[in-house]
Amino acid sequence: MSTRALIVDPSAPDGIGLGEVADPVAGPGQVLIDVLHASLNYADLNNARNGRVPAGAPLGLDAAGVVVQGAAEGSGPAAGTRVVLFADGAFAERVAVDVSAVAEVPDGVGLAEAAALPTAGLAALRSLRTAAVAPGKRVLVTGASGGVGRYAVQLAARAGAHVIASVGSPARGEGLADAGADEVVVGLDDVKEPVDIVVETVGGPHLVTAWALLAPGGSLQSVGWASGEPAVFPPYATVGPPKTLVSYVNEFAAAADLAELVRLVADGALVPEIGWRGSWERFAEAADALRGRRVTGKAVFDLESHA
Ligand SMILES: NC(=O)c1ccc[n+]([C@@H]2O[C@H](COP(=O)([O-])OP(=O)(O)OC[C@H]3O[C@@H](n4cnc5c(N)ncnc54)[C@H](OP(=O)(O)O)[C@@H]3O)[C@@H](O)[C@H]2O)c1
Repeated sequence: MSTRALIVDPSAPDGIGLGEVADPVAGPGQVLIDVLHASLNYADLNNARNGRVPAGAPLGLDAAGVVVQGAAEGSGPAAGTRVVLFADGAFAERVAVDVSAVAEVPDGVGLAEAAALPTAGLAALRSLRTAAVAPGKRVLVTGASGGVGRYAVQLAARAGAHVIASVGSPARGEGLADAGADEVVVGLDDVKEPVDIVVETVGGPHLVTAWALLAPGGSLQSVGWASGEPAVFPPYATVGPPKTLVSYVNEFAAAADLAELVRLVADGALVPEIGWRGSWERFAEAADALRGRRVTGKAVFDLESHA
């Protein structure tokens, strides 16, 4: 038996194609999940080419669906539970996932919305937590139009921070004031006052400028590098009163934080914005839109097989 999946296919455009993988078997501490929706991340596009996921293996990190078999020892969600997951190989009709990477989705939260949460939501939630976001802090979010950015704006605003959302054009900034941004700026030239925290997702010159804007004692969370451009710091840019550049990566044991994210959505305190949605058979279109900076928030796939 086999399961359909979006796999690494070196012969395909983007290195991604629909294919078949062996049916997953749940190991100790794992649940089997039928995936109904999944969301696309830059990491998936990179993983199709960088060797992290081998040829023929399924891509993907973010998905939501229904448990079809609970963990053998009874831990984690039981069969029939609606769940969100953050795990390698998420782009498959059926996946075996550690219970530590799964959270139940409350009634009232759609599975498509839940699938839009993991990678980007975890990065926003955890980077702001590490930076000790608090009322009155000035928080700069770069790439605020994107997946991580739109969550970071909402979560920082909810924490009582003064939020400055930086985007590439006025059109890309639409909706961010409603999402909680106190200021929406195009680029960084109009940010005149120092900031305490940066959630930095663009890299390159944005990283250099954001570092210069960071106040003494501040924390720059280097979450991503969507621009792919090099960062060239002028001499002595890193010399002065102490402030911190913190590298960030999502760790997989995410159950508690996934549960927090879906609870925030259930409470109406966090809104997953889905800027592209369609069948996973249209993955090339979604990848093109993500690369072309045409996705507002997240791109979400529907897997018709279990619908
Ligand atoms: N470390 C981790 O664990 C982790 C977790 C999640 C994401 N990430 C990384 O964080 C970055 C952002 O992820 P995301 O999901 O928020 O991506 P996204 O939805 O595509 O958002 C990225 C934003 O960056 C802005 N941008 C500015 N210059 C760009 C350029 N030259 N090319 C492309 N985008 C540019 C775009 O905003 P404008 O169009 O408004 O300019 C875009 O909306 C990616 O590098 C991703 O790999 C890392």
